[in-house]
Amino acid sequence: MAKIVLGITGSIAAYKACDIIREFKKKNNEVICIMTSAAKEFITPLTLATLSENPVYDDIFYFSKNYNSKIKHIDLSQDCDLILVVPATANIIGKIASGIADDLLTATVMASKKPVLFAPAMNKNMWENNIVKENVVKLKKFGYKFVGPKKGLLACGDYGDGHIEDTEKIVNEAISLLKKKSLKNKTVLILSGPTAEKIDDIRYITNASSGKTGFFLANEAKARGANVIFITGKTDLIPDADICQKIESANDMFEMAKKYFKKSDIIISAAAVGDFTVEKIDGKIPREKNLNLKLKPTKDILGFLGVNKKNKKIIGFSAEIGNNLKRAKEKIKRKNLDFIVVNDVTKKDCGFGSDHNDIIILNKKGKVVFSGGGTKEFLAEKILDCIE
Ligand SMILES: Cc1cc2nc3c(=O)[nH]c(=O)nc-3n(C[C@H](O)[C@H](O)[C@H](O)COP(=O)(O)O)c2cc1C
Repeated sequence: MAKIVLGITGSIAAYKACDIIREFKKKNNEVICIMTSAAKEFITPLTLATLSENPVYDDIFYFSKNYNSKIKHIDLSQDCDLILVVPATANIIGKIASGIADDLLTATVMASKKPVLFAPAMNKNMWENNIVKENVVKLKKFGYKFVGPKKGLLACGDYGDGHIEDTEKIVNEAISLLKKKSLKNKTVLILSGPTAEKIDDIRYITNASSGKTGFFLANEAKARGANVIFITGKTDLIPDADICQKIESANDMFEMAKKYFKKSDIIISAAAVGDFTVEKIDGKIPREKNLNLKLKPTKDILGFLGVNKKNKKIIGFSAEIGNNLKRAKEKIKRKNLDFIVVNDVTKKDCGFGSDHNDIIILNKKGKVVFSGGGTKEFLAEKILDCIE
């Protein structure tokens, strides 16, 4: 659990702070809000206090009314793991870049040696202003981090750069700063999602994989500093990866995996690769009569990677009917894996498509190194902990 000081400044995007607090709380982090005077024109301290379940601070001279307390800006600057400013105005960026500490938020940032992340939001002319640009460059030079802004429709009606970054990206970036960069200089290849085999020009054989496990694994690996290559079948979940490739069939997945395999140190195959492909019929098959499909086995991607792995680490998944560890152990040997993640697909409300799963992780000797359930996000952490 991390302690995050969240600075909120006077932008129309101040309401975004509410979502950010909820996301951090969901992930069991503590959030303490500091508001500037301008921020209070846009959103109330009551809202932030309710969501964060903590008092909201806004007064640099808090101490003069609370002599028994610690000096607020010093206390907050030290007793936290990260300071996140969402949204960050041109004003706050300018003040911090100039060493000004004339309110609780600027004084806290200035007094802190913790990581500081800004999520700017402003009119596009403000963002493109050379003074703002120079301030951002200066802050980056001193180690301050930025996420966004992105292009979008701005509150003033203009379209362009200056729109606050998506909540998910801001939270991911913050979490990434909180984590130790234990996978720095490692390339992690993640295979994710379902594959789909064309029956005719418009129909497919596929499966119910949502790609959520692969998505969370990719974000977690990225947060730990890895260079992440993500290959996925049909899913809308696009993680924070350095390379993202969408594929369709098991053969596409095989070819793409081969392409990126050499440069990878760790390969995690969380994809639900179809075991069979079908002899595709051109056009659209009429539905008038019965139809026999001729299935043939797809290539064994994990088997191929396992044979060629040398000193790479390979992690496979095994969807089992029941608690079948015997088959999983046999798979570890046959495919030359370092770990296998086993889940029972017959369990209700977990596994395929769900946000939750129950898993058992076996190492290459077939020993259980983790067993438990939780959100797929939580389990992604556990899987990477085992690999590390
Ligand atoms: C309706 C409205 C919206 C504003 N939105 C922004 C904004 O998105 N970004 C920004 O940099 N300033 C914006 N401003 C200007 C800031 O509120 C102003 O510069 C203020 O002094 C910032 O103070 P602070 O940085 O201490 O919060 C806006 C002002 C108004 C009236």
